[in-house]
Amino acid sequence: MTDAGAATLQIDGCVIVSADGMLADAERQMPEALKFPGDQRWFEALLDRADLIVHGRNSYEDQPRSRQRRRVVLTHAVAGIAPDPSNPNATLWNPAGASFEQACARAGVTAGMAAVIGGPDVFRMFLDRYDTFWLSHAPRVRIPDGLPAFGLPAAPEDVLREHGLTPKETRLLDPADGVTLTAWHRAR
Ligand SMILES: NC(=O)c1ccc[n+]([C@@H]2O[C@H](COP(=O)([O-])OP(=O)(O)OC[C@H]3O[C@@H](n4cnc5c(N)ncnc54)[C@H](OP(=O)(O)O)[C@@H]3O)[C@@H](O)[C@H]2O)c1
Repeated sequence: MTDAGAATLQIDGCVIVSADGMLADAERQMPEALKFPGDQRWFEALLDRADLIVHGRNSYEDQPRSRQRRRVVLTHAVAGIAPDPSNPNATLWNPAGASFEQACARAGVTAGMAAVIGGPDVFRMFLDRYDTFWLSHAPRVRIPDGLPAFGLPAAPEDVLREHGLTPKETRLLDPADGVTLTAWHRAR
């Protein structure tokens, strides 16, 4: 950690995956089949309590309060850190040129909770840092040739376990479709 205050930032990740562990289709688009009312409500509530949203340039949450949320957006388009000319609440970040702590500080957030919302490369980057990873699972959706949650040829549960996270509680978000949410926590 290079910046004071960053150590107090909690990092949560969250994703919904198909039965075969995919978060998007072969065209890197999230299919409508992966959108469920209960999961979407839960996702919005998580973002409402986040102090910072972190994602790659192609990910977004498209919700009524999205423009009001502070966010850090990963892109190679900047050398390190720069303001986003299209959004006063967004900071552009290239990890090759600046640390996450520096990006958070520039975004004005050094405490509270940062929610990492994808895509796969961004999820993978934080695997050793999540305090909690919220894994939603849609057991009746399959996405052949899709994009794996962490960009790795392994079940997301196995990836989380390999990085020191343990499943603690599972709840049913969308009973009609069997969609569940499991909180994976890191032992401290
Ligand atoms: N099912 C779910 O819960 C879920 C969750 C998240 C995303 N998704 C979906 O998955 C798809 C994501 O596709 P994606 O992989 O293109 O997403 P992405 O991570 O949102 O965007 C990729 C872009 O982010 C930037 N980036 C990522 N890692 C970087 C790094 N280490 N350094 C610098 N820049 C970096 C690059 O932008 P530049 O090209 O500007 O350099 C890269 O092209 C979307 O359709 C999204 O809707 C689904």
